Amino acid sequence: MRLLVCGGAGFIGSTFVRLRVRDHGDDVTVLDKLTYAGRRENLQDVIDDVRFVHGGIEDPASVAQAAAGCEAIVNFAAETHVDRSISGPEAFIVTNMQGTHVLLEAARERGLRYVQVSTDEVYGSIESGSFTESSPLQPSSPYSATKTGADLLVSSYFHTYGLETVICRGSNNYGPYQYPEKLIPLMILNALAGDHLPVYGDGRNVRNWLYVEDFGRGIGHVLAHGVPGEAYNCGGPDECENLEVVKRIIDLTGADETQIEFVTDRPGHDRRYSLSPAKLEALGWKAEVRFGEGLATTVDWYRENAWWWEPIRSGAYREYYERHYGRALG
Ligand code: NAD
Ligand code: TYD
Repeated sequence: MRLLVCGGAGFIGSTFVRLRVRDHGDDVTVLDKLTYAGRRENLQDVIDDVRFVHGGIEDPASVAQAAAGCEAIVNFAAETHVDRSISGPEAFIVTNMQGTHVLLEAARERGLRYVQVSTDEVYGSIESGSFTESSPLQPSSPYSATKTGADLLVSSYFHTYGLETVICRGSNNYGPYQYPEKLIPLMILNALAGDHLPVYGDGRNVRNWLYVEDFGRGIGHVLAHGVPGEAYNCGGPDECENLEVVKRIIDLTGADETQIEFVTDRPGHDRRYSLSPAKLEALGWKAEVRFGEGLATTVDWYRENAWWWEPIRSGAYREYYERHYGRALG
């Protein structure tokens, strides 16, 4: 296929691009603004196989340039970190909502199939059981609220204009190339460096973990087989309390439990996420990587790829870290 992948230089987008180029021989254009989270290095092994357009999805001219000749748009581009959405929601509104609108207009003008990459966080928190696609949308953070707004706009383009839209909602992803502001890569790098491991609140919040290649395959499945107008939950095979995740990372890295530090909780912190993947499984997708295996692979990748994360840890990330956690890194 001739695909426009927006946000293809980010963590999940770059994994998806790699899968499409290698396994499907797709003709891929990446449109990415290269924010702090987007890096050409994430595409290092496929950069010569894709067309790269540097620009924002909220900019119609960049979108028009990138969409030329494409058959479908897959939108990963977003501001994605809940903590940053709490300290500064504006960029989330511009990219996640306005940007999605510009992409939908481009798809409508050209009659393109449109896949929106979304998140379990649109459903809010659930004490027990799992969310299905018909669960109410009850986002709690500015991040999840803007993702929900985007999902509703996407659905409206199906209902109003008959645009071929499909939404794929993933649970928490982990794997190589994830920016170290998120729980798993942050804990791995701090564990390896002998730094503190900052656990929010009581550490008993639960997340449903999905290996990034499984999500990439799930999105590809929705692109190929998803019914227009529908949403599909792509839930991981295992859930785990945060403190247990950190203890597993300590075991895998040889760090010490004394590095754990309980810090002030995140405001409005969702207690538990859980997605039922039954609808996507009925379409033929299934997660292949269990949490234990995927976590070990991820720790090995960070251990072996210091070239990728050293420039991040020594740059603007240090300032973010000190501002957010109130302590120096390293
Ligand atoms: P990421 O932060 O690693 O990457 C986001 C990418 O989007 C970066 O390359 C960034 O440069 C780009 N970008 C940001 N603003 C842009 C703009 N205005 N125009 C063009 N590009 C822009 O995020 P990720 O973890 O790879 O998430 C990708 C998508 O998957 C997001 O839509 C996110 O909501 C969704 N998602 C993430 C998770 C997760 O656990 N990380 C789970 C479910 C869904
Ligand atoms: P995160 O990776 O930010 O993903 P999300 O908030 O989208 O689920 O956080 C995952 C969980 O880990 C969440 O419950 C918050 C917690 N957490 C910590 O305890 N310490 C940290 O330093 C970070 C970044 C997250």
